[in-house]
Amino acid sequence: MTSPVRTERHGDILVIISDSPPVNALGAAVRDGLEAGVKEGVADASIAAMVLRCDGRTFFAGADITEFGKPPKGASLHEAIDMMDASPKPIVAAIHGTALGGGCEVALACHYRVAVPSAKLGLPEVKLGLLPGAGGTQRLPRVVGVKAALEMIAIGDPIPAQKAADVGLVDKVVGEGSLEADAIAFAREIAAARPIPRVRDKAAAPDPDAVEAFRKANGRKMRGFDAPEACIACVVAASEKPFEEGMTFEREQFMKLMTGTQSAAQRHIFFAERQAAKIDDVDPKTPLRPINRVGVIGAGTMGGGISMNFLSAGIAVTIVEMQQEALDRGTGVMRKNYEASAAKGRIKPDAPEKAMGLLKPTLNLDDLADCDLIIEAVYENMDVKKDIFTKLDAIAKPGAILASNTSYLDIDAIATVTKRPEDVVGMHFFSPANVMKLLEVVRGEKTAKDVLATVMDLAKKIRKVAVVAGVCHGFIGNRMLAPRQLEANKLLMEGATPQQIDKVHTDFGMPMGPFQMADLAGVDIGWHRDPSRIESIRDALAAEGRWGQKKGAGFYDYDEKRNPTPSPRVAEIIEDFRSRSNMQKREITDQEIVERTLYPMVNEGALILEEGKAQRASDIDVVWIYGYGWPVYRGGPMFWAQTEGLPKVVAGLEKHGFKVAQSLKTAADTGGSFK
Ligand code: 3HC
Repeated sequence: MTSPVRTERHGDILVIISDSPPVNALGAAVRDGLEAGVKEGVADASIAAMVLRCDGRTFFAGADITEFGKPPKGASLHEAIDMMDASPKPIVAAIHGTALGGGCEVALACHYRVAVPSAKLGLPEVKLGLLPGAGGTQRLPRVVGVKAALEMIAIGDPIPAQKAADVGLVDKVVGEGSLEADAIAFAREIAAARPIPRVRDKAAAPDPDAVEAFRKANGRKMRGFDAPEACIACVVAASEKPFEEGMTFEREQFMKLMTGTQSAAQRHIFFAERQAAKIDDVDPKTPLRPINRVGVIGAGTMGGGISMNFLSAGIAVTIVEMQQEALDRGTGVMRKNYEASAAKGRIKPDAPEKAMGLLKPTLNLDDLADCDLIIEAVYENMDVKKDIFTKLDAIAKPGAILASNTSYLDIDAIATVTKRPEDVVGMHFFSPANVMKLLEVVRGEKTAKDVLATVMDLAKKIRKVAVVAGVCHGFIGNRMLAPRQLEANKLLMEGATPQQIDKVHTDFGMPMGPFQMADLAGVDIGWHRDPSRIESIRDALAAEGRWGQKKGAGFYDYDEKRNPTPSPRVAEIIEDFRSRSNMQKREITDQEIVERTLYPMVNEGALILEEGKAQRASDIDVVWIYGYGWPVYRGGPMFWAQTEGLPKVVAGLEKHGFKVAQSLKTAADTGGSFK
């Protein structure tokens, strides 16, 4: 097999080039090639210095994650990096694209770094539940200091080339179109300079204040994750220990994380997210329909949030409401949201004007005639939706995609009122729609493949993670929420409190539990609005006006800052219900709450797979991570069930009298996993 690494001579400079698509991951063949390239440069007396660069879209994007957990092959990354570091001739890393993880560590082991302005450098291993394990934690603080290194290593966001130059990580920002020539010229300039600057020879000053401030500022973000603390410990070690000792410490910490469940879960999600973009029977080369203008029907919370996604991506939006007042209110909220983001520095100061300039508000449905995609975001009522789609069928231009943002309703039934069911699709955004990353793309029986391909592509443009779901009540996410809610309500009757149930969920790592979620969404949602008809605890709360956070009272009492406290009134309501139902209160363990609220979700997930409503188990995991805040370090419900042990999940379900999905049983019995 030919090596993905080749060398080219430019006078006294040897250019070592890696060409390993798609992202020049540092797999075995690349590492071997790097070693050979450096050896060649060192051995050849006519070579004064070396330049290391990559072909294709990026400099090395990191270690090859697909090799993790497999037996080692060829030269290790450490060996390749040590060899570069020790080279008696200087090596210049010439960076374009993204120098990430092991790629950034390779660059740090080079003696100089040049980068084009569009390049980014970073150590994102923490996002995979890891830490930079090839010297990154020891070298980076020696270059940029403890404070900047903490941000880059324990948060993991890459920084642009100019910022990297400002902190000393890049020696020179070179021309965007002349990386190789500029790097060669730079190499000639430094070829004779001695001593060769080696990062390992530098020291990082201890900075306990920066460490404390970092922990304080990021404590909440890091809650539950193992990797950030290990990253911090390694950065501290870099400032306290000699280089080799620090490297040993980094190695130990890395191995601990690498063999743990959290990193396995986070790596699973990395690939799951990319896999979700693929539709099994849709060719990735399917020609797409052009989307230059999007129509949104409804300027409420959902419609406004949905519109913002497109406006922020530079796509024009026509937004329709029925009343001028509602239209003004909706567009006003959008403007306010943009302005708040600009004030916080999250977007450029001129971004609100730019985005709002692309918005055309109207009261006239006919104005949607020039839209390439129309998304209906009115309230959940089949008759209303059918009426809108009948009108859209008459108004929309041929080839326009007609989408519904429904979270439960039957897309096929909606499509039947049109003469073009192949153009109808579900686009289920999650609230707040301008923030939550998930988009459930609901594939109707007749939805055309190019419609699906177009919507999936568009999702990427508006920075959503899209997952395809089949038509069923609640699709993937809300369908799995239903059994959880049902059991949570039963547990209340049997003796658990809302706060106990919610705490089990937040301790698990969810952002909130079922009752906190009900209070946030509105206890009155789906309520029959007849205060005399009280058939559930929820009805009783709604009848008393305890509609949740918006009313200052729901399953919890709220102060004016919306801080929750357990409610004595709710305890009374539950007690009252219990005695009327002749139920005995009993002690409920936290474990029972897990078994009765989380295991049934896994069971429902298995049914969804059996029915073909999700393409793969990992898609379900992606839905729960990005739509509901399932802790990424637990890898989503289906991955988590496997870490729990499927036989244990089945036994737990059976113990509580659930009917276990056949596929779950089979997977448990055969020691298999979800496909
Ligand atoms: N190893 C193996 N495969 C990788 C990879 C890696 N490090 N990075 C990306 N890929 C694969 C993806 O799975 C995808 O495969 P597919 O086409 O079969 O789905 C393909 O490369 C293209 O990736 P993206 O779709 O993500 O392409 P983008 O252009 O959108 O993004 C990127 C490119 C910014 C490089 C992004 O892929 C990325 O963030 N990659 C991961 C970077 C990372 O985490 N590096 C650290 C690795 S761990 C490490 O280095 C440990 C060391 O410290 C010892």
